[in-house]
Order: sequence, then structure tokens, then C-alpha cells
Amino acid sequence: LATESEHDVVVIGAGPGGYVAAIKAAQLGLKTACIDKRGPPGGTCLNVGCIPSKSLLNNSHLYHQILHDTKKRGIEVGDVKLNIEQFLKAKDDAVTGLTRGVELLFKQNKVDYFKGTAKILGTDEIEVKGNPGEPDALLKAKNIIIATGSEATPFPGLTIDEKKIVTSTGAIALEKVPNKMVVIGGGIIGLELGSVWSRLGAEVTVVEFQNAVGAGMDAEISKLTQRSLAKQGLKFKLSTKVLGAEIEGETIKVKVDAAKGGKEETLDADVVLVAIGRRPYTEGLGLENIDLDVDERGRLVIDQEYRTKHPHIRVIGDVTFGAMLAHKAEEEGIAAVEYIKHGHGHVNYGVIPSVMYTFPEVAWVGMTEEQVKATGKPYNVGKFPFAANSRAKTNLDTEGWVKFIADKETDRILGIHILGPNAGEMIAEGALAIEYGASSEDIARTCHAHPTLSEAFKEAAMATYSKAIHF
Ligand code: FAD
Ligand code: NAI
Repeated sequence: LATESEHDVVVIGAGPGGYVAAIKAAQLGLKTACIDKRGPPGGTCLNVGCIPSKSLLNNSHLYHQILHDTKKRGIEVGDVKLNIEQFLKAKDDAVTGLTRGVELLFKQNKVDYFKGTAKILGTDEIEVKGNPGEPDALLKAKNIIIATGSEATPFPGLTIDEKKIVTSTGAIALEKVPNKMVVIGGGIIGLELGSVWSRLGAEVTVVEFQNAVGAGMDAEISKLTQRSLAKQGLKFKLSTKVLGAEIEGETIKVKVDAAKGGKEETLDADVVLVAIGRRPYTEGLGLENIDLDVDERGRLVIDQEYRTKHPHIRVIGDVTFGAMLAHKAEEEGIAAVEYIKHGHGHVNYGVIPSVMYTFPEVAWVGMTEEQVKATGKPYNVGKFPFAANSRAKTNLDTEGWVKFIADKETDRILGIHILGPNAGEMIAEGALAIEYGASSEDIARTCHAHPTLSEAFKEAAMATYSKAIHF
């Protein structure tokens, strides 16, 4: 084998969990290697997830806004055309720029990066089968961090070809705007990528078997979000099951079981997006060689310190428990390395923000009202509409609300939920507040600049323990 070397830490997977862990380990003076079979580092997130989808969301929003939302602003535009080749290239450029950036960080931090498939041979031995043109290697490791991520959950009976029946990976690379798109699953991927193609002109129908969209977001915010997306043209079939699909010529016939009491129905589509969740990915990793346990959902079983039954083999990110989010994986990457180096690390799982990058954005942190209610503890809710916020008014983007939930007795903030312009940036203040155990009054008594959208945040806090001024 071309390379035989011993490392303090070998990280398998260079997604947000793995690459951050590798950089952190190297920064702490540990001799570190990272392996990814994809080639460019960054994992699902940079290559086919967070980053490309946000490029498409940003630019499709701009296109949609230019088409439908400039007249009232006093801007008259001429012929507006979509150049889909350039639209996709802008996305690809963002991806390439960022993955190259991670590779550079690897070099700067002296992380040995292997482009190939890792197989664990024993508790301290990893074989790397190099990608074409890349060397094979045999690595000895004092510590292993598994960060192999997740893959789209397949829909039984539907064969994914990533052209007509697609997962998110195909849906971020369609070379033509579909006439009709059926999205199976009204979770985050369904609503984000459904929005992209709807804005570009597709007729999008989202089929969801729960009676709400947004996969567990606060019920009130979920309703408002669905209403907002419906106004933009997305169609929803909730409490509806997909029974199967068949390709007839260019058309896919999607059979659905209509809502309670309804009858079966067939939806025509030229593209079907399967977005019913993701599942842990451990194929070919050699788990059998070290006898690691997975739970009923395929997640690698670990303890509080990310350790498997072999204490020097740790697991982080999508392949184990918790929210499948890039920033959650990153936090775990740092904590796992700190456990290795110092014997302690920390992630506050109660304060992992979520953002859905539709327009308006939806962002939340802490508990939903339903979760708070289930604890049986009395609570206060404070809300403030962007329609009463001066900056939102000047921007002509007044849709949405900020909602606070706080303990009735102590006023400690339990959850914050925002549907509105820039919600994804604003939620950082909410995360900080909850992390530091703030009360709603703490936020309300903190001076926020005028005129900013953040004043809606402050006023929702005010409305929680007292009354808002402007509503
Ligand atoms: P991954 O990013 O999946 O990385 C794992 C890596 O391991 C992969 O590159 C894979 O090639 C490699 N690997 C696996 N097995 C082996 C092996 N045997 N040998 C070598 N390499 C191997 N999250 C957010 O927080 N914000 C978002 O906006 C967001 N948008 C998303 C949009 C889409 C369309 C999708 C699909 C996901 C999105 N996510 C988002 C989720 C996010 O991408 C994941 O939570 C995150 O990538 C998980 O990081 P990870 O490091 O655990 O795994
Ligand atoms: P999801 O868990 O968000 O949503 C899946 C949806 O599909 C749920 O609403 C579920 O009820 C529904 N569903 C499941 N089976 C179904 C069926 N047979 N028929 C109809 N509906 C069905 O999963 P999604 O959207 O695939 O995303 C995967 C992961 O990626 C999520 O965990 C999410 O956290 C992450 N992600 C995060 C983003 C962000 O942070 N902005 C963006 C995109 C993905």
C-alpha cells in the first residue's frame, strides 16, 4: 500500500461534522487524517445539500421577485428571462469555491486528506481505497471519528433515476423547469426545493401524510407557513398517502390516497421529488469488523461522550442521534475532539436552531408550543407581527410573526419561533438568549436599533411578560 502511517485521529467523512472535527483536532496538535470518497470535502452539506440549495433559493427568489414584486416598488423591468444554465452554474461555482476553501484549510492545518473509500478493518486500522488517480492507504489510528452522514430515504416501489424521479440531489440539478412536479414529503427539503421550482414556473404539489407541513415545527407557525407558500402557488395535499407511481411515456402517474373519506386520485408529474427524510449511511464502512451497534433506525449507538463500545471510536453528525443539521454535526465534531484531547466537551442540544430558507424564512430554537404544553407547566406566549414593524413596512415585506414562549413563573424563554424576512439571521439572538438563560424581559429591555426587523423580536419579547408598544 502506498501509505502506511499512524495518526492520533482518523476522521471518516469530510462533511460538516468530519471536516470540522479534523481541523479542530489538528489545531489541538493531534496528528490527523480525514477520508472522504466524494473527493471534494464538505460532505452532503457543501456538495449537494445546504449550499447548492441556498444558491437556488436565493436566485429563484430574486427571479420571482423581479417578475412579480417590483411594480409596487416603482421599478419597471423589461423582458425577464431565466437562463437555467447560468442559474445552475452560479450554484456550482458557490459549491466549488467553498469545497476548495475546505481543502485549503486542511492544508493550512496539516490535516492529511485522503480521497477514497474508508473501510474499518479493526479497532485501530482503516483501509483507504483511493479514488481513481488517488493512492490507496492503510492507516493506524489511536482514535477514530466516524462522520459518514446520511442519505435520502428511498420510497418503497419508486426507483430513483435522479432525472425524473429524484431525491434532493437530482432536484438541485434539473436542466429544465418541470411543468408539473409532485413532492412527496412536506418537510424541510420538500418546502425549500418545492419553492425553488415553483418560483421558476413549475406547478408544484406537495403530498404529506401528516396533517401539517414543516416536519415538527411549531403548529401555529406551520399553518402560517403553509398559507404563505400556498399564496405563492404551491399546492398541498395533507393527510395524504402516496400509494405508488408509474411512468407512462414522459409522464409519471402518482397515485395518492386522498384525505380522510376521499377517494384515490392520480396526479400527473414530469418530475417527482422524494423527500421523506434521510437515513444514516454506513454502507461498506466495515462495521461488522468491529461489531458496532446500530439502533432500529440504523443510527450508530453512542454514549454522552460520542463513544461507541470501543471507547476510542467516536461517532458524530447525521449517522447518529439528533437533528440532521450541519451546525449540529459541527458542534459535535468540536466536542468529540475536545473529549479526545481534554476529556471534556459540550453541546447544548436544547439550543440547536433550525432554519427553513423559504420566503419568508422560518426559524426556531428551543421548544414548540406543543412541547411546552406537554410539560404541563404554565407558560406565556408573546407575539409581534412584521406588519407592525417599521423596517418590514419600508421593505414592503411584512408577512410573518415573531413568537416567544416563556415560563409563566420565571419568564425564562423556552422557545422562539419566527416566520418572516431574515428569520434565519434573527434566530441567532434567540439561541444566545436561551443559551444564557435569558428571560423575555431581558430581551425586551435590551436596546435594539431602529429601524430594524430585530425590533419585532424585541417587541414579541415585550408582549410575553407585558405589552408590545406598536401592536
Ligand atoms: P455528511 O455531510 O453527509 O458527510 C458525510 C461524508 O462521509 C460524505 O461526504 C460521504 O461521502 C462520506 N463517507 C461516507 N462513508 C464513507 C466511507 N466509507 N469512506 C469515505 N467517505 C465516506 N443542514 C443545515 O444545517 N442547513 C441547511 O440549510 C441544510 N440544507 C440541506 C439541504 C439538502 C438538500 C440536504 C440533503 C441536506 C441539508 N442539510 C442542511 C443537512 C446537512 O446537509 C447534514 O445535516 C450535514 O451534511 C450532516 O453532516 P455530516 O458531517 O454528519 O455528514
Ligand atoms: P423531513 O424529516 O424534514 O421531512 C420529511 C417529511 O416527509 C415529513 O413531514 C414526513 O411526515 C413526510 N413523510 C414521510 N413519509 C412520507 C410518505 N410516505 N408520504 C408522504 N409524506 C411522508 O425530511 P427531509 O425534508 O427529507 O429532510 C431531511 C433532513 O435534511 C431533515 O432532517 C432536515 O433537518 C435536513 N435538511 C435541513 C435543511 C435546513 O436546515 N434548512 C434543509 C434541507 C434538509
